[in-house]
Amino acid sequence: MSKGKLEKFNELAAMANIFEDGTPIPTEPKGFEMGWHREYFKNDNPIVLELACGKGDYAVALAEKYPDKNFIGVDIKGNRIWVGGAKALEKDLKNVLFLRTYIDKIEHFFEPNSISEIWITFPDPYLKKSKARKRLTSPLFLERYKKILKKDGIVQLKTDSNELFEYTIEGLDEKKITPIKVVQNVYKEDHGMDQLFIQTYYEKMHLEDGRSIKYVSFRL
Ligand SMILES: C[S@@+](CC[C@H](N)C(=O)[O-])C[C@H]1O[C@@H](n2cnc3c(N)ncnc32)[C@H](O)[C@@H]1O
Repeated sequence: MSKGKLEKFNELAAMANIFEDGTPIPTEPKGFEMGWHREYFKNDNPIVLELACGKGDYAVALAEKYPDKNFIGVDIKGNRIWVGGAKALEKDLKNVLFLRTYIDKIEHFFEPNSISEIWITFPDPYLKKSKARKRLTSPLFLERYKKILKKDGIVQLKTDSNELFEYTIEGLDEKKITPIKVVQNVYKEDHGMDQLFIQTYYEKMHLEDGRSIKYVSFRL
């Protein structure tokens, strides 16, 4: 591990807005008591998750924009989460925190029917068919999200990957779910959504490569 990465890992534990699970995926829920995040936020405002948050660009930008909502960025990579955590502390944002864990365990950290919105920002597309189960919009993951989402809760995916986008839309179709909104090119279509112009670290790289950015939202 590089020195910078090691320093960030050591600092993670000390950062008040970063919670780490770090255990291998257990068969039974364990780790945090439910309600752990309410102790941090000290309010009952709606909870919005950014999954695969990396450096937490959406979590931080949305937290600034919507002080009456709470945001939780989730990713397994500690050195990336560190960047989001540090940015939130620097901006003195009290309505954003980060959880370092596998998203595979997401329902172990949140009560059923408790999450208002889920953003999935530029998740790895896992193009090989043998890895399809790892895609964050695979049926397995959608079932996990359904457990924790409120009845009218929404999932929003932003991606540069045509393959992941088509896979997600087809998966919804198989479940007889009609998307709320489909945007094929965020920077060419008139979608009327300010939030879509927040750019993540990976998004900036994809835009430099001339890739188009897609978005879909849906209920489960
Ligand atoms: C391509 S990066 C995108 C990061 C960020 N959203 C952005 O746009 O800059 C994908 C992120 O998803 C995370 N990730 C992928 N699968 C995951 C899983 N099952 N659990 C936790 N994190 C995961 C990776 O660690 C990585 O940081």
